[in-house]
Amino acid sequence: MGPLGLFSAVESTASAFSEAGFGGEAAGEPLFITLSGISKRYGTVTALTGLDLDIPPGSIFGIIGKSGAGKSTLLRIMSLLESPDSGQVYYGRERVDTLRGAALRERQRNMGMIFQNFNLMASRNVSGNIAYPLEIAGLHKKQIHERVEELLELVDITDKRRARLRELSGGQKQRVAIARALASSPQVLFCDEATSALDPLTTRSILSLIRELQRKLSITVVLITHQMEVIRAVCEEVAVLDGGQVAERGTVRDLFANPRSAAARELLHSGQQIGHTEGGGDE
Ligand SMILES: Nc1ncnc2c1ncn2[C@@H]1O[C@H](COP(=O)(O)OP(=O)(O)OP(=O)(O)O)[C@@H](O)[C@H]1O
Ligand SMILES: [Mg+2]
Repeated sequence: MGPLGLFSAVESTASAFSEAGFGGEAAGEPLFITLSGISKRYGTVTALTGLDLDIPPGSIFGIIGKSGAGKSTLLRIMSLLESPDSGQVYYGRERVDTLRGAALRERQRNMGMIFQNFNLMASRNVSGNIAYPLEIAGLHKKQIHERVEELLELVDITDKRRARLRELSGGQKQRVAIARALASSPQVLFCDEATSALDPLTTRSILSLIRELQRKLSITVVLITHQMEVIRAVCEEVAVLDGGQVAERGTVRDLFANPRSAAARELLHSGQQIGHTEGGGDE
């Protein structure tokens, strides 16, 4: 069985969510992100240099490259956490890299982000972490409670609603982080090495959740990884980053069948398999 085999079990859960009334989640049109001529330096280090990339809306787009290739820098610029030294970022037709203040915060509410190390708050329990962005947004207590319950169900972790973080496995923590990232119904979810700290089985269960959520909510997912197998498991299209530029870009199928760049060939040869054992992971 190939690495995609596990996703058959996921389809049935997705339809269960529709029946549970999560159908109205989608936040309007999926976001079309375009980057044009992006350069970024840190002192003498050139992180990105004249990078052009457009991210197809409503899909899972992969960005792969070896350590130091510029992936996280690109993600911070794409998600408006950092400004490029030169070049432009567009969401749809709107130029967004120049936004500041309230207009920037408004845009940032439209995106969710998850990381390798989860970035959760140890002082809050599971529900408290998921509630945090809703509190910041000024929702009423009752609205927050209802939304948190929806999100707990969406990421399948309702039984842990009052658990402390130290009582959770890595996979469960990432589920909490995903729920928090989706709290304000973003149009795009950015994932920076979201499965890199997880074992193979848990990686598969988190990837299948991301895939299920992308379909369910019709969001755009940008997934950064250094693992080819992660790309193969969930992405439709992929860009290979090398030395702060796009070395190659295309469908995942083409990349695996016929890698054109030296960077892609290198990543393919060094690639490890995600475990092929059946089961859900997480525990
Ligand atoms: N805040 C920073 N200050 C100084 N240098 C930085 C900073 N952020 C990134 N860099 C440098 O920019 C280059 C690209 O870094 P980046 O973190 O984007 O790579 P990456 O592809 O995400 O790598 P990894 O796979 O290890 O996470 C590296 O040489 C890095 O050292
Ligand atoms: Mg990185």
